[in-house]
Amino acid sequence: MKSKTIKKYKICVVGAGHVGLVAAACFAKLKHEVICVDTDKQRINNLNSGKIPFYEPDLQLLVAKGVKKNLLFSINLPEAVKKSEVIFIAVGTPPLPDGSADLTAIGNVALVIAKNINSYKLVVGKSTVPVWTGKKIKETIYRYRKGKNNFDVASNPEFLREGKAIYDFFYPDRIVIGVESPRAEKILKEIYHSLKSKIVVTDINTAELIKHASNSFLAAKISFINAVSRVCDLAGADVEKLSLAMGMDKRIGKDFLNAGIGWGGFCFPKDVEAFTYISKKLGYDFKLLKEIKNINEQQGQYFVDKIKEHLWILKAKKIAILGLSFKPDTDDLRFAPSIGIIELLVNEGANLSLYDPQAMAEAKQLFKESSQIVFASDVYQAAKESDCVCFLTEWDEFKTIDFRKMKKTMNYPLIADGRNMLDKQKITKLGFEYIGIGR
Ligand code: UGA
Repeated sequence: MKSKTIKKYKICVVGAGHVGLVAAACFAKLKHEVICVDTDKQRINNLNSGKIPFYEPDLQLLVAKGVKKNLLFSINLPEAVKKSEVIFIAVGTPPLPDGSADLTAIGNVALVIAKNINSYKLVVGKSTVPVWTGKKIKETIYRYRKGKNNFDVASNPEFLREGKAIYDFFYPDRIVIGVESPRAEKILKEIYHSLKSKIVVTDINTAELIKHASNSFLAAKISFINAVSRVCDLAGADVEKLSLAMGMDKRIGKDFLNAGIGWGGFCFPKDVEAFTYISKKLGYDFKLLKEIKNINEQQGQYFVDKIKEHLWILKAKKIAILGLSFKPDTDDLRFAPSIGIIELLVNEGANLSLYDPQAMAEAKQLFKESSQIVFASDVYQAAKESDCVCFLTEWDEFKTIDFRKMKKTMNYPLIADGRNMLDKQKITKLGFEYIGIGR
């Protein structure tokens, strides 16, 4: 029997950030014809010559392959809208001071779509947005569209993690599509046809909420284990063994139970805030979310207090900071827990030497070199003459450190492991004093 040929779509992805660029490159890999649009001309020029704006394993190669065939980068949104059948909106939704998400970019894209709609379009929200955003996009296009061209709005939240984005796109635990018509459902199912993952079909509001609820739940898991780690410290117990045993219960699961200095990045902090805000606006005071955030905010101070217990006075002490990005395999420093810890240590008068395997360029923009902050070119240079070495991101590179060599050059052999990434026994056997979280 002849196998059914599945339609390849003309897709426009608006936004060449982490979500948009990965989606565009992956849709191209699935053989759809893709135009990825961004307002940043420099970024688009760079992409056309194969330069990726951030560090993401394997993305460069995927983009380069796509550019040779079916992946185009452009700043011309009106033209891209006209040429496409499906438009994925993947622009930023940054946090506003009141905690709500800034949806200006999404509103602007909806307007451009309205003004350039020349045939049926499926407009799909991919950015993380508060519930009812799809509804607003629909109203906007309906209100401002030229002529009577038909369109559908859908929601298809993205669950990819930075650093594992390509894998997550091709092997997601589930694909969520929030739709209002059989036509939209059919198109989205065809777009993802070659992926083997389960597709969950919902209405648009539910799809939007699934994303906020999922990120908030993951943040809750981490805050929970961090709160438990405090009890472990007080009780003299070991949070690592505890979370291992807890995670063996299938109902709990082992992932996101690593205690440490807390969650950061551009997703969890803004999404927990935005979910709290939208719940309140809808009439529900989601107090649990506020506590999840509170626990997270305390972790940095807790970590610094532990260092203080060991070193007593931090003024003029030299502290090496290993790992700056909010997690490994990314150069992203946005809302990284390291930032708060560095600020606290600087306020205590400590002298810091910073090192990260990928985020040095970003770090040099964020922290100015000063009498208290210097940048090191490797772990050993950072640790030299220090009174304490802090591990703030669990990079693989740090797992192969020659600790004997490091110890010889240190002023005082103290290790503060903010990610519980080191073998405590091994480190103490080597003659270090060891600080962990909840162990
Ligand atoms: C997160 C979600 O995991 C993705 O599913 C989602 O698509 C993405 O946000 C998004 O909304 O775009 P990401 O921000 O890349 O992905 O980072 P995660 O891997 O989830 O880590 C978030 C933070 O939690 C990091 O700071 C990490 O160090 C911390 N973490 C994670 C812990 O402290 N403990 C853990 O056990 C796990």
